[in-house]
Amino acid sequence: MKEELLYRPYVSASLDDCLKLFDANCPEYFAPNERDDYKDFLEASPKAYELCIVSGKLIAAFGVFPEGKAMGGDGREARNASLNWILIDPDMQGSGIGTELMSRALNRASLLGTQALKIAASHKSAPFFKKFGAEVVRETPDGWGPGMHRIDMVIEL
Ligand SMILES: CC(C)(COP(=O)(O)OP(=O)(O)OC[C@H]1O[C@@H](n2cnc3c(N)ncnc32)[C@H](O)[C@@H]1OP(=O)(O)O)[C@@H](O)C(=O)NCCC(=O)NCCS
Repeated sequence: MKEELLYRPYVSASLDDCLKLFDANCPEYFAPNERDDYKDFLEASPKAYELCIVSGKLIAAFGVFPEGKAMGGDGREARNASLNWILIDPDMQGSGIGTELMSRALNRASLLGTQALKIAASHKSAPFFKKFGAEVVRETPDGWGPGMHRIDMVIEL
């Protein structure tokens, strides 16, 4: 039986556990130099960052953050949002949790009235996001660090 996934907002007491998730995915999915950026992000106590817990253990995290207002295709004001720092315990990858997180993220984005959900991916994770309709808007070789290419993507909602 699949274990139940519980979600709760980020709290600063989870900083070390989040960094452990990062470390477990480094250097496979993240460049080592990104760790400080993630720590800075967590230290700002991001309210929209969500933690995913299984049997009391942190196994994944992600957040959808509204950005400034933009002009929609119909000339009305629209909002963009970004999907930030989505990461899953490597032991739990490949079992559909990423798909569940994307479904939650797209739902959040839609509740925010988002027109475009931006994702700053890497060449390792971009094929995953493509499965959810993400299109590449920019490719930056070594954009995250040596050998880790940055792929900016967007999902139009
Ligand atoms: C990328 C990530 C979120 C995917 O989560 P996951 O739980 O492994 O994904 P799922 O099991 O839901 O997979 C869904 C589908 O995507 C595919 N997929 C998953 N990761 C993939 C990858 N990196 N490249 C290509 N395909 C991938 C799966 O094979 C599956 O395909 P299918 O539907 O044809 O069977 C996860 O691997 C992860 O946390 N990676 C490390 C952190 C990271 O790179 N985050 C992105 C930074 S912005």
